[in-house]
Amino acid sequence: MVSILGISAFYHDSAACLVVDGEILAAAQEERFTRVKHDHNFPVSAARYCLSEANLQADQLDYVAFYDKPLLKFDRLLETYLDYAPAGFSSFLKALPLWMKEKLWMPDLIRTELAKAGGEDDERAAKKLGKKFEWKLLFGDHHESHAASAFYPSPFEEAAILTIDGVGEWATSSIGIGKGNEITLLKELRFPDSLGLLYSAFTYYTGFRVNSGEYKVMGLAPYGEPKYVSLIKDKLLEVRDDGSLKMNHEYFSYSQGLRMTGRAFDKLFGGPPRRPESLITQKEMDLARSVQVITEEVMLKMTNYAYKETGMKKLCLAGGVALNCVANGRVLREVPFEDIWIQPAAGDAGGALGIALAVWHRYLGNARKSPETAGTWQSTGMTEKTGPKEGGRDARAPSSNGLPPYADGMKGSYLGPRHTEAEIEEFLQSRRLPYRKYSRTELPGVVAELLAAGKIVGLHQGRMEFGPRALGGRSIIGDPRSPEMQSAMNLKIKYRESFRPFAPSVLRERVADWFELDTDSPYMLLVADVAASQRRRMTPAEEALWGIEKLNVARSEIPAVTHVDYSARIQTVRRETNPLYWEIIEAFRERTGCPVVVNTSFNVRGEPIVCTPEDSYRCFMRTEMDFLVLETCVLDKREQPKFAEKTDWRSQFKPD
Ligand SMILES: [Fe+2]
Repeated sequence: MVSILGISAFYHDSAACLVVDGEILAAAQEERFTRVKHDHNFPVSAARYCLSEANLQADQLDYVAFYDKPLLKFDRLLETYLDYAPAGFSSFLKALPLWMKEKLWMPDLIRTELAKAGGEDDERAAKKLGKKFEWKLLFGDHHESHAASAFYPSPFEEAAILTIDGVGEWATSSIGIGKGNEITLLKELRFPDSLGLLYSAFTYYTGFRVNSGEYKVMGLAPYGEPKYVSLIKDKLLEVRDDGSLKMNHEYFSYSQGLRMTGRAFDKLFGGPPRRPESLITQKEMDLARSVQVITEEVMLKMTNYAYKETGMKKLCLAGGVALNCVANGRVLREVPFEDIWIQPAAGDAGGALGIALAVWHRYLGNARKSPETAGTWQSTGMTEKTGPKEGGRDARAPSSNGLPPYADGMKGSYLGPRHTEAEIEEFLQSRRLPYRKYSRTELPGVVAELLAAGKIVGLHQGRMEFGPRALGGRSIIGDPRSPEMQSAMNLKIKYRESFRPFAPSVLRERVADWFELDTDSPYMLLVADVAASQRRRMTPAEEALWGIEKLNVARSEIPAVTHVDYSARIQTVRRETNPLYWEIIEAFRERTGCPVVVNTSFNVRGEPIVCTPEDSYRCFMRTEMDFLVLETCVLDKREQPKFAEKTDWRSQFKPD
């Protein structure tokens, strides 16, 4: 048995992942345990959880692998700061102590911290440094870790790989090829030219948090017009045919330090950045739309180039920009790749998983048998909106439920902790919390009845998801047919901006009846339009609405998950991957005819997604959620004892 612990840390979204004999046994982000969103500290709790999943002690590991090379990153920081001296010098001085204290001494630090993960206290951990661990410590390259996270768990035997993010060591995006167990990176774009940092600069300028608010910019884009596209292209950057960028760094400040944009940028766009939490105006919507348009153009060019350059028929994506599911949807539809697969933990958390798999396949040379070769995955050939391509799904033998088989190495991304019925009941009884327990067969019908009656339900079941999306393990769900559901969920449950759309979870068997998509999107990383047959005809007055006013018009049979441009961020659900979730949606369909539920992550704004039953109960009581489902225990808000907290929890979480 060979056990490998992958670690990503010290930038944002620390995580740990345990791979044993090539199988991903566990993966989790540190934030879920510490309850600090995007926690970047060494993932002691996540590592401890991963070890416990396999009953291992830290000193029983064979390899520990870190997702990037701290010295290379230091080299980049040093060189960049010196290039921009003296402007960048103050942030260099700020960063230096952390580097001197932690990052450059990584091997020692990892040993000490992992000793803690093994359950020792700090003092003994320090002593343990003297007693050498048996495991071998390895460091990967940042973009190689992303590439490995994109390719190794994918269903494909061979594929082009594209990684796009802000910045790792030097690379900001890379193109490569995966074949069997080998990955070859062919080309990279280097800092400071970066699509991720361009998007982050606009995230900053429109008043959202960098490395966290990017998806809000994406959500805001459909309300705006692409007014600034030509200005951005004239002044800020050149997009080459291969999708590489040349940015005009007079306008950006991220090379020099902590701000993303500078005075020249402010002048160009007519004023300083929007203050966070202040009113969002049409200007921010137009800026969001413009940067989204450019991002899509760049991603289409990059993926087209990757298609031509690699000669591959399939594409794997990772890196923070791969979370831009609107752009992914266009890549699927408009680039000739037959299929794409996107790592659900596309950001740096996924690097922990990538490096662990890279150690198994590349460093140790173990063979990889892909689901495609094993026959457990089959292409749907669906890259056109208009229907199956030649040789597409129609030509293939369906599986027993009429669908082509779908398997990848991620286990639905349900790689985190699970709480047993016994643990849940012990928690509920120790707190004397009233609940009703149902049998596993009754439960889907019970939850479906609640949804059909317009109730908002917190669903905590099975293993926690790895990656930023809740996929029915730690989700809040509701009826998508209700015109009030979107604003009710935004304002009463999530306490966040009402413009933000929700995502649908739909039975895989029925996705093509409701959306212009007929392929798997298990990780909610593809955007497609609501099917024309489900849309509502708009009146001329409704058509004429502008900006945020568009929000209040029901555009389809499922308005709560239909964005103002009719798009939806889709999660397809298969029974074999998440049986209970599938059965709940199926029971809802039996009652209502609608095989879709609203799915939003189980948290309030700025809070990491819930992990334990206690987290779920706390979130349930802090919000206006109606029911909480903890495995087969169902809690009714009206029956709960008064929930009093000493402090206002809203001050606990920074808005993201
Ligand atoms: Fe990254």
